[in-house]
Parts: sequence; structure tokens; C-alpha cells
Amino acid sequence: KPTLLSGIQPSGDLMIGNYIGSIKNWVKMQDDYNCLFSLVNMHAITVEQDPKELHKRSLDFVALYLASGIDPDKSTVFIQSHVPEHAELAWILNCSTYMGELNRMTQFKDKSQKHAQNINVGLFDYPVLMAADILLYQAESVPVGADQKQHLELTRDLATRYNNRFEREIFKVPEPFIPPTTSGGRIMSLQDPTSKMSKSDENKGNFIGLLDDPKTIIKKFKKATTDSGSDIIYDLENKPGVSNLITIYSVISGLSISEVEKHFEGKMYGHLKVELGELVAEYLDPIQQRFYEIRNDETLLKGILAKGALNAREQAQKTLRDVHEAIGFVLP
Ligand code: TYM
Repeated sequence: KPTLLSGIQPSGDLMIGNYIGSIKNWVKMQDDYNCLFSLVNMHAITVEQDPKELHKRSLDFVALYLASGIDPDKSTVFIQSHVPEHAELAWILNCSTYMGELNRMTQFKDKSQKHAQNINVGLFDYPVLMAADILLYQAESVPVGADQKQHLELTRDLATRYNNRFEREIFKVPEPFIPPTTSGGRIMSLQDPTSKMSKSDENKGNFIGLLDDPKTIIKKFKKATTDSGSDIIYDLENKPGVSNLITIYSVISGLSISEVEKHFEGKMYGHLKVELGELVAEYLDPIQQRFYEIRNDETLLKGILAKGALNAREQAQKTLRDVHEAIGFVLP
């Protein structure tokens, strides 16, 4: 089986955009790939984190991976910091990455505006660590949302650079797996549908948290910004708000965009919002129930993570050893 790797940073609240853009596809791809799902805590500390919250949230997120349908008997679930090879390979890749390449990263530009008081070296170097996450496992597929496309391109460039330099396939060149916009590759913020939904948004009304209760979910959708006009049709340019709600409805219900349009023909925006709220609340209910069961059993959770780390490390060490050999490091 080809290998697949993806990851999420333990920051903010895991929300429906993360689920639709990536986790939902992880679950689907589990049978066809050798899957590794990481909780990338070393990426998370590129912005300031409260240690207690980071700790709690990390276990919450892992429990949510499992509650969403990641099966630890099929897939490797692990925490990035449990596999030191990530940092080691990142250092080596640093020495083949140009400042100019990282300067062009739009996420870095956005984040350095948002965290102007803390533009640290880690934030700048973030994409190289991400490349290490992926290349370490020879991953061929990386299911992510559209916002990660540029990072994946850098990863591919670095892999190719290495393979060319050493004239053999040291790294597999990974393919991003990004859903098209109409399938949720880029879910937008509820109250500002021209910017992307973000789990660390200070205004929690902008996203649906995977752990939001039904009342909150329904309320948040009711408050979502819609557009002028009254027809419920998908039109990204003129109706970004409505189009976003249609997209979420489509992905969660399994209906196509045009089926959703037909379903709401002649109805008002209010109908869409209420029905969507109920649909999403109902969809998340079993995930939330499983979450609380799993999260309450910390021994189980830690056991899964220990097994995951062991498994991941074994694969990671192989690649790192090969890289050391290629670049002329004396093996221990
Ligand atoms: P992160 O933690 O910001 O987001 C986790 C995943 O959710 C996707 N996503 C979205 N998808 C659709 N609509 C949205 N509004 C939306 N917001 C977020 C992200 O694209 C991502 O797939 N750099 C990564 C974490 C990472 C990683 C990796 C991913 C580190 N190493 C290796 C894959 C492979 C990030 O910040 O994701």
C-alpha cells in the first residue's frame, strides 16, 4: 500500500472546516493507504501556547481523530514530538532550503501580521518541519485543505532537489489531496465568508467546533452572514455566504450542490440556516458521544499514542538513516 500522512496543529478548537477539508478524507482513505495521522504539537508552538491548554487540547484532538472514525488498528496515530526524527530531518532540510522560498509563504506572511510581536524563527521555518513530517515517511498522498497547497509545493520541491542532487530516489515526491472548493477544500468563516474558517479565530461565532452543543451550532448558523438577494443558489462570487452554507450542507448530507439547490428551491435563507444547523448537530452527535467515551479513558488514549509513536519511529528511522548516508554523515 502507498503511504499517506497528514497532521493537525493543536491550536484553537478543532472545527468543521478541519473535518471537511481533511479528517473526513482521512477516514475514507484508511483502507487504501498505509496511513499516519499526526498531532503536530511542534508546529503549534510557533505561536504562543498556554502549556496547560496545549496539553489538554492535544489529547482532545487525538480523541477527536478517533471519534471521527480513525481506527488505530488500521492507522498510525501519533504525536509529532514523540518522534524526534521530525526535528532532525527538518534541520537537515533547512540546509537545503532558501530564505527566499520561505519568505514567499503566504501563511508566514499572514501569521507574522497576526503575531507581529512574536515573529520567531520557528514560524519562519514552519514549512520545512512540515516537509520533514511528510518526507520522513515517504508519503505519496497528503490529504489537506486548500490552504496547505503552497506548503506541499515546497515539500515537493525539496524532495526533488534532494533526489536530483544525490541522483536517486531518497524521498518520494508527495501528491497533495485537496478537495475542490465545492467539496469543502476551503470552508469560509460564518460571519465573514470572504475569509477562511479558522480554528483559532477569536470570534468563535465564525466556526462550528466539533464539540459545540446542538443549541450553539444552530445559533451560530442562524447568525451566519448571508448575501443580498433571496435565492439559495451556489454563486461564489456574488453569494459567498450562501455558497459556503450550501457547500457545508452538501458535504454533510452527501447531496450534490445542485441537489441542495433543488431541495431549497423557493425557500428563504432562514430555512437553509435552520435546516443546516439541525443537520450538522445531528451529524456531530455520535462523534461527540464517542469523543467523551474515548477522552475519559486516558490509559487507552496513551496506549494508542505509544503504539503509534513506536510504529512511526520505525519508519522514520529508516529514511533518516538513508539521508545521513547520502549526505556523508558517519553512521553510529
Ligand atoms: P491546521 O492545523 O491549520 O489545519 C488542519 C487541516 O484542516 C485544513 N483546514 C481547512 N480545510 C478546509 N477549510 C478550512 N477553512 C480549513 N482550515 C483548515 C487544513 O488545510 C489542514 O489540512 N500545516 C498544517 C499542519 C501540518 C501538516 C503536516 C499537514 C503540519 N505538518 C504534514 C499535513 C501534512 C496546518 O497548519 O493545519
